[in-house]
Amino acid sequence: MAFEKVCNLEDVSEGEALQIEAFEEAIAVYNVGGQIFATQDRCTHGDWSLADGFLEDGVIECTLHWGKFCVRTGRVKAPPACDPLTIYPVEVRGGEIFVDYEAGKVGE
Ligand code: FES
Repeated sequence: MAFEKVCNLEDVSEGEALQIEAFEEAIAVYNVGGQIFATQDRCTHGDWSLADGFLEDGVIECTLHWGKFCVRTGRVKAPPACDPLTIYPVEVRGGEIFVDYEAGKVGE
């Protein structure tokens, strides 16, 4: 496990998502009611940033074709997307957000 700092907690407001370009592929970090989650940033349906989407009740909606994904599990919640997102372990320590990029796994 190799957690790396990606941003500060204050950088991601509740109900918001933030694109992070610290790794081989961009990730998106989400604040769901104070809980932090991380997934791949690129939608599995097309080349589009999920961090630019709408986050509601832990579901991110892609703004290109309106596919939806659960940010906790990576599971597809609405078509046209059909492949789940890769999700990453997250730790919050002292107001800083850390992600283990290498431990990412394809969601359910
Ligand atoms: Fe995201 Fe099509 S690119 S739903």
